[in-house]
Amino acid sequence: MRRIVQFSTGNVGRHSLRAVIGRPDLELVGVHASSPAKIGRDAAELCDWSEPTGVIATDDIDALIGLRPDCVVYTALAETRPMEALEQLTQILAAGINVVGTSFVWLAAPRYAGDWVREPLEKACAAGGSSLYINGVDPGYSGDTLVHTALSLATRVDSITVQEIFDYANYDDAEYTGAAMGFGVAEDEELPPLFLPGVVESMWGGPVRALADGLGIVLDEVRQRTERWFTPERIDCTMMTVLPGQMAAVRFAAEGVLDGEPVITVEHVNRLTAAAAPGWIFPPDGHVGVHRVVIEGDPRVEINTHVSHPLLDPTDAACISTAARVVNAIEWVCNAPNGIIAVEDIPQAAIMNGLMWRAK
Ligand SMILES: NC(=O)c1ccc[n+]([C@@H]2O[C@H](COP(=O)([O-])OP(=O)(O)OC[C@H]3O[C@@H](n4cnc5c(N)ncnc54)[C@H](OP(=O)(O)O)[C@@H]3O)[C@@H](O)[C@H]2O)c1
Repeated sequence: MRRIVQFSTGNVGRHSLRAVIGRPDLELVGVHASSPAKIGRDAAELCDWSEPTGVIATDDIDALIGLRPDCVVYTALAETRPMEALEQLTQILAAGINVVGTSFVWLAAPRYAGDWVREPLEKACAAGGSSLYINGVDPGYSGDTLVHTALSLATRVDSITVQEIFDYANYDDAEYTGAAMGFGVAEDEELPPLFLPGVVESMWGGPVRALADGLGIVLDEVRQRTERWFTPERIDCTMMTVLPGQMAAVRFAAEGVLDGEPVITVEHVNRLTAAAAPGWIFPPDGHVGVHRVVIEGDPRVEINTHVSHPLLDPTDAACISTAARVVNAIEWVCNAPNGIIAVEDIPQAAIMNGLMWRAK
């Protein structure tokens, strides 16, 4: 039985918390909350679990470390507060506690992450004898496990295209995803962070480089492209209200170039409602979203991934999957050698154990 602390209960964290509470091989021993409205409440209330757990949310990190958990599931927003989040992670790792998480999207391909984030975490792992594993759906699954699966079906490959085509209308994250991507920003306003030089490349270039290295090819360069779509009509949705003239869809990619041609592309097409960017590609068969890989080669391989849920929106279902990517790896990470772990280090068969349990 692994003793677990869940760190934050936002879009992803409330789903990892439910998984931790429910799984018979994991024991929830602590929950971190930063918002005053959550501190002091039972973990069950923070994730709609039916019975109280007796575990009360706290913002006292020292007390959570003092519980000596085997692993912390870290899903706090990190990209808008990287130095503060880095301090929290290094404190936990240096105390000898393993961490799995979805935050710090740069670390989905950790060997290609910048020194500013990788080095302090490596040092903390070495100091504490602990391990860190970060993954998700995108970045994560779509650019690694999905591609590896598709490549296993081909004898020769000309190009790899990974796509997230997803309607973010019901994604309740105007604060980070909305602001970073620039939804609701007009053309004559300051450029949103995603459109600054090098930002797409820094976040999605790692998976491109990891795939190139795995394929044994040397790319000419990894470059980024970005495009925005401004709505002529007002759009109301969960993420936000977008007024005429403001951005309601975005398309961007990190491209690995070989002999002048993009051969490994990791692309996003994100819109707010189906009314946005009608000329751009949509997910197949009326789906809200798809995580897809297309391999051009012998043979052509296309795998479309749709996650859904009987009660929740597909965006929430994707957040469950984001949580699954790391919760399912807890046992392996707890047994792993010290340091930062990449997805290719973990045997796929190792993430199944403990998965079949009935939710209450
Ligand atoms: N790779 C992928 O596929 C993928 C997909 C989705 C998300 N992500 C990443 O996963 C992380 C979580 O995403 P999310 O959508 O769940 O985020 P979110 O709901 O916007 O925020 C998660 C939590 O961050 C905590 N937080 C915010 N400001 C804080 C602060 N100043 N100090 C401490 N905690 C703070 C809050 O915790 P409290 O609730 O305790 O107040 C919040 O609930 C992000 O880093 C995101 O980029 C990755």
